[in-house]
Amino acid sequence: MTKNDIKIENVNKHFDGVQILKNINLKIKDGEFFSILGPSGCGKTTLLRMIAGFITPDTGVIYLGDQDLTNLPPNLRNVNTIFQKYALFPHMTVYENIAFPLKIKKKNKLEIDRDVKKFIQMVGLTEHIHKKPHQLSGGQQQRISIARALINRPGVLLLDEPLSALDAKLRQNLLIELDSIHEEIGITFIFITHDQQEALSISDRIAVMNHGEILQIGTPVEVYESPADTFVADFIGENNFFQGRVTEIIDSEYGKIYSEELGELFVEFDKKVELNDLIKVSIRPEKIRVSREKPKKNKMLNVLPVYVEELIYSGFQSKYFVWINGNKELLFKIFKQHAVYFDDNDSEAIRWDEEAYISWEADDGFVIEVCK
Ligand SMILES: Nc1ncnc2c1ncn2[C@@H]1O[C@H](COP(=O)(O)OP(=O)(O)OP(=O)(O)O)[C@@H](O)[C@H]1O
Ligand SMILES: [Mg+2]
Repeated sequence: MTKNDIKIENVNKHFDGVQILKNINLKIKDGEFFSILGPSGCGKTTLLRMIAGFITPDTGVIYLGDQDLTNLPPNLRNVNTIFQKYALFPHMTVYENIAFPLKIKKKNKLEIDRDVKKFIQMVGLTEHIHKKPHQLSGGQQQRISIARALINRPGVLLLDEPLSALDAKLRQNLLIELDSIHEEIGITFIFITHDQQEALSISDRIAVMNHGEILQIGTPVEVYESPADTFVADFIGENNFFQGRVTEIIDSEYGKIYSEELGELFVEFDKKVELNDLIKVSIRPEKIRVSREKPKKNKMLNVLPVYVEELIYSGFQSKYFVWINGNKELLFKIFKQHAVYFDDNDSEAIRWDEEAYISWEADDGFVIEVCK
């Protein structure tokens, strides 16, 4: 094991008789940018505070490298936390705020000065060095927290939704900065967010949580393309789902299912299935094509007639909401780039209140569950 690996083994936690964390097992590698993603109340902060040492698990062990952290007080752990709220000293300047952890450690003045200037530069606040927090924007204040958390050179930096108080554009910018700070200093970052876009764009790996459990751990591509279950498939990105019974298996990889609502469909079997299994399949909205003309049948293409109930323009893409076979209960989402004026064939784009066809190839879908 390397020095700054984090290992969490069989951790459980109850608050007031309610189980908040359920048998958490996690290994985070030294230097990794690791995100914990999940909806509000699923236990992300509780888990992070446990790594920081503010909460002790009921059962289970937490290691940093070979060191058992479980009963070590926060100040003796080589980790540091950045919170959603900036928690800066309002009466101190940027310089003094960032210098504070080193002063506590009684470092000499020259050393403090060199380090503070280095970290102020890293977070781009050199020109604001003598200002107080209230004279700075939210994003700048969060940069002070980042510099202050890093100046002690922790082995692991814990970030609890550090960007959530900022507006979308600033969040994007600070996310890019966090990424380059991570590259530069190379320590382990554990980043909590409930924003799946943030997690997908920055992480080496992501743990997806719900109701105190980890449902999947994987790279952004793995959790997006091969979600472990329906929750992950729905929580990360958007999705359409359908169910059907396996009626034919072709080369063990492909086959047909019969869905009561949608009829006969081609499916790629990402999981092992047997004839007559009931399976649940997901198809991402961006993988579906929509056309006015009925697409030419080819071997593994699924084609369904739809009614375009709604078309929502949102700049770089448009979202179609369609009823399959005209049935209001069978709503599918389809995302298309620049769909407002022209479609793929350069003819006028399909609008709401039109009949159309949707189509996708068998291998664009993904088998989420096999219910025997
Ligand atoms: N000290 C506490 N005492 C009692 N219950 C608590 C305590 N801390 C957290 N909880 C409960 O534990 C659950 C998980 O809380 P936690 O703060 O870990 O969620 P979270 O995933 O960080 O949510 P959010 O995205 O809203 O920050 C919640 O139901 C919360 O009410
Ligand atoms: Mg939280």
